[in-house]
Amino acid sequence: MKLTILSTALTVTSVYAQGSATEWAAAGPDDFRGPCPMMNTLANHGFLPHDGRNITKANAIHALGAGLNFDATLAGIMWDQAIIANPEPNATFFTLDNLNRHNVLEHDGSMSRSDAFFGNNHVFNQTIFDTTKVFWTDAILTPNQLANGKIARQLASKATNPNYTFTSTTEAFSLGEVAAPVIVFGDLPSATVNRSLVEFFFENERLPVELGWTAKADPITLTAISRISAIIGNATSLLTPVAPIAPIAAAKRRDLHFGF
Ligand code: HEM
Ligand SMILES: *[C@@H]1O[C@H](CO)[C@@H](O)[C@H](O)[C@H]1NC(C)=O
Ligand SMILES: *[C@@H]1O[C@H](CO)[C@@H](O)[C@H](O)[C@H]1NC(C)=O
Ligand SMILES: *[C@@H]1O[C@H](CO)[C@@H](O)[C@H](O)[C@H]1NC(C)=O
Ligand SMILES: *[C@@H]1O[C@H](CO)[C@@H](O)[C@H](O)[C@H]1NC(C)=O
Ligand SMILES: *[C@@H]1O[C@H](CO)[C@@H](O)[C@H](O)[C@H]1NC(C)=O
Ligand SMILES: *[C@@H]1O[C@H](CO)[C@@H](O)[C@H](O)[C@H]1NC(C)=O
Repeated sequence: MKLTILSTALTVTSVYAQGSATEWAAAGPDDFRGPCPMMNTLANHGFLPHDGRNITKANAIHALGAGLNFDATLAGIMWDQAIIANPEPNATFFTLDNLNRHNVLEHDGSMSRSDAFFGNNHVFNQTIFDTTKVFWTDAILTPNQLANGKIARQLASKATNPNYTFTSTTEAFSLGEVAAPVIVFGDLPSATVNRSLVEFFFENERLPVELGWTAKADPITLTAISRISAIIGNATSLLTPVAPIAPIAAAKRRDLHFGF
């Protein structure tokens, strides 16, 4: 028993990517990077292998835990959902390049990347990101502003990309992605986040330590992700809640619009 615990601890501490929130190096020419600004960020800080390869479950749990204080169970679930990115059967790792495969995890209508139909689907694209930021109208981003930016990107894709693809599975992942910056950089009770931190993160693929950010003191769990994703999901609705209608106004509306 003691031996098992010891060897588990050794496995965790022997992952060769350790990482530091204050150390950062851009990807070199032979390093892989992908469509996820956070996986790229964690590699740039060395929490993930800097070369963007060999993302084993242990390495992912280490990176999300040491870099962002994600609970190990949550990090394990995220890795389990992502391992399909490696096309090899029974793969034990994926690479950041694997994440670029279109319509496996990577999808159309991203906040900061171009659709595959138009070219590079994974490198940060300032032109695209600027179209999202139009909807980030306050210094503190609300679920509404984040949802509006997401819908705007989908609408632009749907209107211009004849191959636009966005299934209900994509939607679930997409909501998690829009929620992610709130979870890592924001205030969980109010589901808001400082816009400067989010923009710095996307545009530099670097943790916003110099803007005063530190990882949350309490480990982030699946419950938090689900809650914030649901709030963003609600905010994507183009309908407002039903307000009580005065009887006369209701009758008039019927005359004008319903034709009976
Ligand atoms: C095992 C862990 C993770 C994997 C495998 C992963 C993978 C991905 C992939 C494949 C995409 C591309 C989707 C698209 O086409 O837009 C993506 C997007 C994204 N991810 Fe991650 N991710 C992980 C963890 C995280 C974490 C912890 C954050 C926290 C901030 C995060 C933030 C984002 C954001 C904000 C996007 C959207 C980028 C955009 O729309 O331009 N991810 N992720
Ligand atoms: C991949 O990462 C694991 C730790 O999860 C480590 O034991 C192994 O040596 C690494 N492999 C390579 C090729 O770097
Ligand atoms: C993958 O794992 C399954 C179940 O353990 C096994 O039946 C199969 O042979 C493995 N495939 C390869 C290519 O190793
Ligand atoms: C950014 O996206 C736009 C629109 O898809 C595209 O025209 C442009 O070439 C992209 N820029 C880069 C650097 O990929
Ligand atoms: C085009 O759409 C099909 C079906 O959704 C998808 O399999 C394919 O990956 C898409 N290709 C591009 C370049 O968007
Ligand atoms: C957002 O964060 C930046 C950097 O720490 C800070 O200067 C700014 O005051 C914050 N904005 C608000 C509205 O709190
Ligand atoms: C989302 O909206 C539904 C219906 O208005 C509501 O019942 C639910 O509590 C909302 N969820 C969150 C997380 O705000």
